[in-house]
Amino acid sequence: MMKLQNLATLVALVPYALGFPRLENFPEYRSLAGLSPREVRAVARTFSSTPGAQSLPPPISDTSAKVVYDSEHPYIPDQPGDIRGPCPGLNTLASHGYLPRNGVATPAQIITAVQEGFNMGWNVASLVTYMTFIVDGNHLTNLMSIGANTTADDEPTPGLNIHFNVEGDASTTRGDFYFGNNYSFNETLFDQLEEAANRVGNGFITIESASLHRALRINDSITRNPTFWFGSPRFVAAYLETTVPLAFFVNNQTLDTTLNLTLDVARDFYEKHRFPEGFVRRQGPFDVAEVEFMFAKIFPLINVPPGHNEGVGNYVVNPEDDGSSCYVYHRQVNLTAQLYPNPTPELEVAIKANLVTFYQTLHNSSCEQYFPYGQ
Ligand code: HEM
Repeated sequence: MMKLQNLATLVALVPYALGFPRLENFPEYRSLAGLSPREVRAVARTFSSTPGAQSLPPPISDTSAKVVYDSEHPYIPDQPGDIRGPCPGLNTLASHGYLPRNGVATPAQIITAVQEGFNMGWNVASLVTYMTFIVDGNHLTNLMSIGANTTADDEPTPGLNIHFNVEGDASTTRGDFYFGNNYSFNETLFDQLEEAANRVGNGFITIESASLHRALRINDSITRNPTFWFGSPRFVAAYLETTVPLAFFVNNQTLDTTLNLTLDVARDFYEKHRFPEGFVRRQGPFDVAEVEFMFAKIFPLINVPPGHNEGVGNYVVNPEDDGSSCYVYHRQVNLTAQLYPNPTPELEVAIKANLVTFYQTLHNSSCEQYFPYGQ
């Protein structure tokens, strides 16, 4: 397997980002990375079910524009015990009941919910979900939490907010892990998003203003965060996250980049995790071609390649990282193999099957397939 830059450092740091697990009351949705085989067996005995890997759900059949904030999907803000995290999209789907309202879901539930609620394309949804789940999810129970459980008495239990994976630095409305909370809405950062909208978007969030805000966020992380990491998959996710609010919150946005997103709608989404009243999802899926179209618009405006800081202010480009789905797939497989060097037989079966499913999300790709646990 090829050597990926900084992978050793990342592997050392992921358990740190995961926190050190307490084995009593080990949540069913928590990643098992970092546990010894004895510990995995001990916690698995407490799980109510261990279905292991599941296959990809089919694409939804109706991808037309339709009202998705309807009577069957009322907005109910998270209640004590419910989990929300760094992804306002998944948070919103949980607050409207497209995902389980407690914020714990299977990959299939996530892939279906993002299509139903936002018309995210099946190909993009499957890839993003699996590249996240492989590291952040629990392979035995097939569950993942969409954030940190901050209602527990002790340290927050991590989920989608696990750092150095899809979660990363220079986010739109969430702070860098290095500075503390990397998953909750941050008013100061929203104010900056607003400033960019006023500067170059006539008070709206536009491609130009969203890109400016991202560029400023990256610059801030470069100049202040000694651990700033912007390699793939984080690199790809950050660009994608710049496009999705525009793609999903402006009706009939399919390939029309002239319509704009209001700050009120954006605040409701980023902070309250709520659809606009009577929200109509976009016409047609936002899938690979649409993502590429939007990337072509924003990349020249942001124009920062994958890289990381080596000391404050010293941004170093990752030479092997081209941001491609093959690179992301390969990096995630490498990382998984290193996070689970000695799995129990049941866990190994589940991880192997999930890695195969992950490969399938690349959809007939020419990427080389890897089998770190054998075929
Ligand atoms: C397909 C499954 C999805 C997964 C696994 C996922 C995962 C994530 C993760 C881990 C983050 C944190 C990244 C960071 O550090 O900033 C994130 C952020 C984000 N996600 Fe999602 N997401 C998904 C779907 C969606 C959807 C459907 C939307 C719809 C609008 C969305 C919108 C966003 C936005 C705007 C951010 C950036 C938040 C910010 O920077 O303040 N995501 N997502």
